[in-house]
Amino acid sequence: MKKVCVIGLGYIGLPTASLLGTKGYEVLGVDVDTRVVETINRGEVHIVEPGLDILVRSAIQSGNLTAALEPAEADIFILAVSTPFKEGYQPDLSQVEAASRRIAPVLKPGNLVILESTSPVKTTEDVIAPILREAGHKVGEDVFVAHCPERVLPGRILTELVENDRIVGGINEASAEVAAEFYREFVSGEVLVTDAATAEFSKLAENTFRDVNIALANEISILCDREGINPWDVIALANRHPRVQILQPGPGVGGHCIAVDPWFLVARAPEQARLIRTAREVNDGKIGWVVDKVKSCAGRFKRPVIACLGLAFKADIDDLRESPAVKIVNRLIAEDVGQIVVSEPNIKSHDRFTLIGYEEAVVQADIVLLLVDHREFKRLKAIDFKEKILIDTRGVVR
Ligand SMILES: NC(=O)c1ccc[n+]([C@@H]2O[C@H](COP(=O)([O-])OP(=O)(O)OC[C@H]3O[C@@H](n4cnc5c(N)ncnc54)[C@H](O)[C@@H]3O)[C@@H](O)[C@H]2O)c1
Repeated sequence: MKKVCVIGLGYIGLPTASLLGTKGYEVLGVDVDTRVVETINRGEVHIVEPGLDILVRSAIQSGNLTAALEPAEADIFILAVSTPFKEGYQPDLSQVEAASRRIAPVLKPGNLVILESTSPVKTTEDVIAPILREAGHKVGEDVFVAHCPERVLPGRILTELVENDRIVGGINEASAEVAAEFYREFVSGEVLVTDAATAEFSKLAENTFRDVNIALANEISILCDREGINPWDVIALANRHPRVQILQPGPGVGGHCIAVDPWFLVARAPEQARLIRTAREVNDGKIGWVVDKVKSCAGRFKRPVIACLGLAFKADIDDLRESPAVKIVNRLIAEDVGQIVVSEPNIKSHDRFTLIGYEEAVVQADIVLLLVDHREFKRLKAIDFKEKILIDTRGVVR
């Protein structure tokens, strides 16, 4: 039985580790967070993802998945740690560096190391390979190194882990082939082989494509608002053109990927990546635009109750990372725009906001600010907002 060691047991690492555990691999999942390790070893999960609880329980019960704080010898090492940005939108690769340093002492000849974290171009070559070489490994000969970006959609991770096409980029041809062989064992999508830098860039290009196109939708929505026109109608009609596919506007762009990854391209070529930077600024600017919109409506009341519906960065998930909704609620509170009530059906509690049910929030409100298109909110009808002001940033209420 092949041994796999997965470093980082978050939204990507845990589904990957538990999937492999149920596909006949002996998997050691490693995380620096004791709570995460203990939760998983009890057969429980610390993140919400459909089907993940059942998969983790079954992988743990079969004995094929164990979680630990320290890596151990294995055949394949998968790095699935976070790659956020730090001050000045510079990539923060400290987790990738730390994870590489932690596995370096346990690597043996014939091992394969795969970076799955979304990373700036040349990270595999310029960050991981030197750390492994420093530890005495012959990278590309004794130890194969590749980048295989993850492109799953939260909410569909378990399906997409298997069905999506995968890009596998090796540090050399041998590494690419060994890594591709591994993914072909459990992926039903096509495995596309290239070099590491091309694989890194492809992933960043995918998310940048989304960001730039959402920026266009957000800008269209702002221009429509100026004209008193419904942007969702404009976009739906324009999209009837056979070669037009405008995306949907919202309160900004959030999450660990689309709001972050384009900065990795900008950081390497600040002078050239002008459109990409502007798109990021347009999407981040939408947050302030929504806050101003609420403030202009709040002026009509003495101290309005403002119901903020949704905190997650997108529909039907519990992930609040980089969420524009959270940023908007924080600003409304900081600027004391009114009495803020918050509803987020996908989480039980929040350290800063008291959460209430969405129906109750709407009843209490003078202004309803719809921030996320969660399935619960889609049940709301225009009649629920009679005599209230509705600011619908997602075009949910028709
Ligand atoms: N979440 C997604 O939907 C998604 C989709 C595609 C790609 N990605 C990319 O995948 C990568 C991982 O994202 P995520 O959402 O799973 O992150 P996450 O924050 O949910 O998980 C990262 C985990 O790594 C652990 N960790 C940090 N440093 C460590 C170390 N040195 N050793 C061991 N464990 C360590 C953390 O405690 C955490 O549990 C990122 O690069 C992200 O951009 C994420």
